[in-house]
Amino acid sequence: MATTNTQSAIPAAARVNRFTYAIRNIVAEAQKVEASGTRVRYLNIGDPVAFGFKTPAHLIAAVERALRDGHNTYGPSAGIPAAREAVAADYTANGFPVSADHVFITAGTSEGIELTLGALVDAGHEVLVPMPTYPLYTAVLAKLDAKTKYYRLDPSNHWMPDLDHLKSLVTSSTRALVIIDPNNPTGAVYPREARRALIDFAERHGLLILADEVYGDLGFNGPVEPYGRLDPDAAIVSFSSLSKAYLAPGWRTGWMAVGGSPRLNDLIAAVRKLADGRLCSNVPMQYAIAPALTGDRSHQISFRQELKARADLTVDRLRKMQGVTCVAPTAAFYAMPQVALPRNRTDEHYVKALLHATGVLCVYGSGFGLPAEEGFLRIVFLAPLDELRQIYDLMADFTAEYLR
Ligand SMILES: Cc1ncc(COP(=O)(O)O)c(C=O)c1O
Repeated sequence: MATTNTQSAIPAAARVNRFTYAIRNIVAEAQKVEASGTRVRYLNIGDPVAFGFKTPAHLIAAVERALRDGHNTYGPSAGIPAAREAVAADYTANGFPVSADHVFITAGTSEGIELTLGALVDAGHEVLVPMPTYPLYTAVLAKLDAKTKYYRLDPSNHWMPDLDHLKSLVTSSTRALVIIDPNNPTGAVYPREARRALIDFAERHGLLILADEVYGDLGFNGPVEPYGRLDPDAAIVSFSSLSKAYLAPGWRTGWMAVGGSPRLNDLIAAVRKLADGRLCSNVPMQYAIAPALTGDRSHQISFRQELKARADLTVDRLRKMQGVTCVAPTAAFYAMPQVALPRNRTDEHYVKALLHATGVLCVYGSGFGLPAEEGFLRIVFLAPLDELRQIYDLMADFTAEYLR
């Protein structure tokens, strides 16, 4: 009989040590500050509903109806037909022809990304990921024992991808290129030429493009066209969800759409297998997808205006702070300023010191893959304008003191 040892800890997998999720990890530090009686302003997480933006009523009604109509069974693993058809029709209307059988309904963009990378890479494979990045990509790749290869986004060039750097990273083990556009954490939208160059690069090297387009409807000048429109035959998978532009992040409801190239058939079959294994995504919420994509989207017009006003205030106030620079975002609700840190200081030191001194919680740039000494941090600017003004007052006073 095996001996039992009730004293020793159950060891966790070593690969989990290879990633951290700073956006949520830093909350533990904020809770300590809160416990000491300081009000914390949570500017760490991109959840518009947490800042008072309202989920459209017709989407809530659609989910309520689904619950009452008894749609509480398991559903098809790729999603209910009405949702898949609505997603396919939406991409197709926006110039990326997608058929419903190439759409999977997922638990947010996040699950689509995880299914796709799970279906694509084996241990040791490499994936090109922007730096700074949304940290889910590195987390999933670590789980798969695959390798993140960071390509630089250039703050001196409006956070555009550095194509020469990207080209220098390809090896025989590279399998995919991750593009986040509009971007989190930078708020950048890439112009058409940059988008074409990324697609051409990926096609030349036989790489799958993971186009994270979750902020596609939140360009300040209006919706941004999907990557698939530029080259419908390229090996592209697009991801989006109800989380951001439809103001329902807690529903964990999203989709992925796979381009029509026959080169993608094996990948689709593998995604289907993995999707079968997890049964289905939340069924009642899937009933909101068709109403979201085919119904009234007027909330997005005012949402974009509100975001633009917050972005303008943010950039104006940050640029007035001595020692702080900031590229102006053109979409979404993030800004990525840089603080000219004293030597031997890190972005994390600055962010934690700011938190302890003022209660303002941002996320340090190294949590998105940037070198800690470069002094970047991400601000979520969803709070109301008045509150943002107070926050930037606090930040300005603190930063002047910190850099003195
Ligand atoms: C670039 C990016 N991709 C994916 C996600 C995850 O979104 P979802 O709620 O759709 O899973 C986020 C959330 O912040 C994001 O910023």
